[in-house]
Amino acid sequence: MISKLSITALIITLARINAAQYPLTESYSGTGFFDGWRFPVETYDNTTNGDTFWATAQNTSLLYVNDAGRAVLKVDNTTLVPYNEKRYAPKLFSKNTYGPGTVFVMDAVHVPFGCSVWGAFWTQGENWPAGGEIDIFEGINLRKENMMALHTSGGICTISNSSSMTGRIDATNCDQSANSGSGCTVYDQNDNSYGEAFAKDGGGVFITEWTNEAIRIWFFSRSNVPSSVTSTANTFDTSSLGTPTAEYSNASCDLATLFEPQTLTINIALCGDFAGLTSLLEQTCPPLEGDKTCYTTYVIDDASTTYANAYFELNYINVYTTNSSSSGNLPSANGIGKATTTVTAGTASRTTSGVIGSATNGTNANSSARKTTIKEIRIIALISLILGILL
Ligand SMILES: *[C@@H]1O[C@H](CO)[C@@H](O)[C@H](O)[C@H]1NC(C)=O
Ligand SMILES: *[C@@H]1O[C@H](CO)[C@@H](O)[C@H](O)[C@H]1NC(C)=O
Ligand SMILES: *[C@@H]1O[C@H](CO)[C@@H](O)[C@H](O)[C@H]1NC(C)=O
Ligand SMILES: *[C@@H]1O[C@H](CO)[C@@H](O)[C@H](O)[C@H]1NC(C)=O
Ligand SMILES: *[C@@H]1O[C@H](CO)[C@@H](O)[C@H](O)[C@H]1NC(C)=O
Ligand SMILES: *[C@@H]1O[C@H](CO)[C@@H](O)[C@H](O)[C@H]1NC(C)=O
Ligand SMILES: *[C@@H]1O[C@H](CO)[C@@H](O)[C@H](O)[C@H]1NC(C)=O
Ligand SMILES: *[C@@H]1O[C@H](CO)[C@@H](O)[C@H](O)[C@H]1NC(C)=O
Repeated sequence: MISKLSITALIITLARINAAQYPLTESYSGTGFFDGWRFPVETYDNTTNGDTFWATAQNTSLLYVNDAGRAVLKVDNTTLVPYNEKRYAPKLFSKNTYGPGTVFVMDAVHVPFGCSVWGAFWTQGENWPAGGEIDIFEGINLRKENMMALHTSGGICTISNSSSMTGRIDATNCDQSANSGSGCTVYDQNDNSYGEAFAKDGGGVFITEWTNEAIRIWFFSRSNVPSSVTSTANTFDTSSLGTPTAEYSNASCDLATLFEPQTLTINIALCGDFAGLTSLLEQTCPPLEGDKTCYTTYVIDDASTTYANAYFELNYINVYTTNSSSSGNLPSANGIGKATTTVTAGTASRTTSGVIGSATNGTNANSSARKTTIKEIRIIALISLILGILL
């Protein structure tokens, strides 16, 4: 009897450990970073009215892995852009999609900033703007703070300040039709969560845990990154991270129905519906002169210094998930928007034509990491089976 009880307790403990720990399923990093991403179908920013052409496979000076082994995604600052033309800037989607039960970890040493610059690392449902959106990192112009948000369509979704979090709520309704579509925004209160101070402090790590119970986002500046958070960690335990920066709880948001499988998105827009709004632009950048606009002031002509800091420099993006339908096993992972291109990225040496990305069939960015995970799950299953027989 006692032994049966203790075996039962062991099984329960094992189940708990397994639930709290998310296994690594992808590591977008190093020379293989770009293998897991695809380009947008559209050639220019047709969703937020920004003044950008989206970078293509030919743009190996904008998408490459540098000598430090970090992925760089940058705005073109070498071309003289004539009036009426747009400037090349990056937008990439993960080939794989993810369901609830997932943790996204993004480690950056630099994020894009500067007047007219609008960088974001976010997730979106297949039928955007339906299907939910999680804005993990979003910064504009010369702001100092990162902004986080959820965007939902239909249903009920608000953020309540009974949540335990360190960020400052700016808008409570997540529904896309409220607050001019701002989503339920939360600002990080750390002045090094974006911009120049972020870069000076060596960057930091953004961690997002998405379950049907809550969506939580943590930001750690470089010196505060927990030692357990590394690119090579095979499992991830969110229970030791402390109070999140933002917490969206299912107590006030129907997370289980409003969020479809999500695609990771990373992009830099110029001007457009957020960074380019005059009132917002002028909050941190000089007033526009005469009849000049964000576009005519910043985007065109020689913008080499304007966009000197308009780039992401990433150590890695890791995905940890307990959801077996994540990791590219969904049919939709084979090409939302029916993209047929594969990201071709330059390398630091750039003497060759670059690293050719893997097939657009939803293969993991790092299949060796996935094998480890499957092996671990099998071991756990085997132990459970043996214990079950004993019982
Ligand atoms: C894949 O992950 C393994 C284990 O974490 C690592 O040793 C290897 O360098 C990674 N490969 C790429 C291409 O990132
Ligand atoms: C953007 O362009 C793509 C490709 O033409 C198209 O499928 C998509 O519907 C467009 N999006 C919007 C919001 O117009
Ligand atoms: C980006 O690629 C396009 C072709 O797709 C090319 O016209 C443009 O000049 C390139 N720009 C840079 C900066 O590489
Ligand atoms: C896993 O993700 C799928 C969507 O990809 C979702 O329908 C399912 O409910 C998720 N499973 C769990 C246990 O959350
Ligand atoms: C949250 O609580 C504070 C203090 O009770 C209150 O002042 C504030 O209006 C509430 N709402 C939001 C969205 O912060
Ligand atoms: C929130 O999630 C928890 C855990 O999954 C669940 O027990 C609870 O019923 C959910 N609450 C609501 C209001 O959906
Ligand atoms: C262009 O951008 C790069 C960084 O991407 C920067 O090193 C360089 O200084 C910029 N050019 C000018 C003239 O500022
Ligand atoms: C999927 O991609 C992998 C790796 O590139 C390749 O070996 C495999 O043949 C592909 N499968 C299909 C069905 O295209």
